[in-house]
Amino acid sequence: MARLGSQAKAGFYPTPDTVCELLKSKIIFELEKGARLLDPCCGKGKTLSRLADGVPNLTTCGIELDHQRAHEARSRLTKVLWGDALTEMQISPNAFGLMYLNPPYDDGVSDGAKSQRLEVQFLRRYLGTLQQGGYLVQVIPYYVLKHCAKTLSRHFKAPVIIGFPEDEFQAFKQCIVVGRKRMAKKEQADMTQEYLEELAAMEPDEFLSAVNRLDLVAEKAFCIPAPAKPLTTFRARNIDPLEAIPFVRKAGILKNVLAELTPRRNNEIRPLTPLENGHLALMLAGGYMNGAIEKDGRQLVIKGVVHKSEKVINVRENDSGEGSITCHRL
Ligand SMILES: C[S@@+](CC[C@H](N)C(=O)[O-])C[C@H]1O[C@@H](n2cnc3c(N)ncnc32)[C@H](O)[C@@H]1O
Repeated sequence: MARLGSQAKAGFYPTPDTVCELLKSKIIFELEKGARLLDPCCGKGKTLSRLADGVPNLTTCGIELDHQRAHEARSRLTKVLWGDALTEMQISPNAFGLMYLNPPYDDGVSDGAKSQRLEVQFLRRYLGTLQQGGYLVQVIPYYVLKHCAKTLSRHFKAPVIIGFPEDEFQAFKQCIVVGRKRMAKKEQADMTQEYLEELAAMEPDEFLSAVNRLDLVAEKAFCIPAPAKPLTTFRARNIDPLEAIPFVRKAGILKNVLAELTPRRNNEIRPLTPLENGHLALMLAGGYMNGAIEKDGRQLVIKGVVHKSEKVINVRENDSGEGSITCHRL
């Protein structure tokens, strides 16, 4: 968790506002009847909500590891899950028409000899949630293209690579990959992979002049498909206390549970027969007695610890496995 925590802190490079504006104006997402959008690393939800701004019938879904940011994103997006997007989420496949993916830029945690950049881990993990014909908009440092090249070239036909505007490019050397999900034939996939690897090997200046820059690119419209499948599952395995507490309060469960667990004051117990030592011990251990008793007119306090031990004295079992075990409490 320490590693994840530092990833969340250090990995918060929100898409710059200027890039967001340009993305919105240059890359126009046309919609067939409504669409579902996913950002698996949504931060405060600003970028996805900006892309969806003014477009009717959209469902915007986000996931965020940092609790505070996830909380803030809830005010902007339709649904937000809090937790580790790589390991804790259960999400219906083929459910999204657009995936905006600006993941943390880092080496993955090494498992022995093999470790994979986080950008690739996120791409592979969320590929299945994008429907066929849906669009990926991925923001990564351009030199990471070499790590993503194989997956991008197999699953997206001729993805378009766009450079950040020069000023914004300087900090993290990012580019935008826009790709439509469609299996590519091997020959074409090999060519695309080679092209992406070549771009990744370039010097930063060379890269910027080899690709279209977002501020210079001509307007382009991409048609985001309507959802092909319902989003039946979109949940985290963990429970977010900020979401759970209002439910628990509203349902009054907590009050009932506390009432059941708290021994009642002045609770008079009138057993039908005198209590045996075992009964007393269990009631003490369960918190139903405070240990004060009266015996032969004297006030006594019972103190001690409770052990429960049993001795098996008989085991019977028939051929079909049914049977009985007789024990004696000691
Ligand atoms: C580069 S920022 C992107 C924020 C936003 N999508 C944007 O473009 O403005 C990456 C975000 O991913 C979050 N993050 C890092 N590791 C994560 C994980 N394993 N699961 C979910 N979110 C994660 C970070 O907390 C951070 O907010």
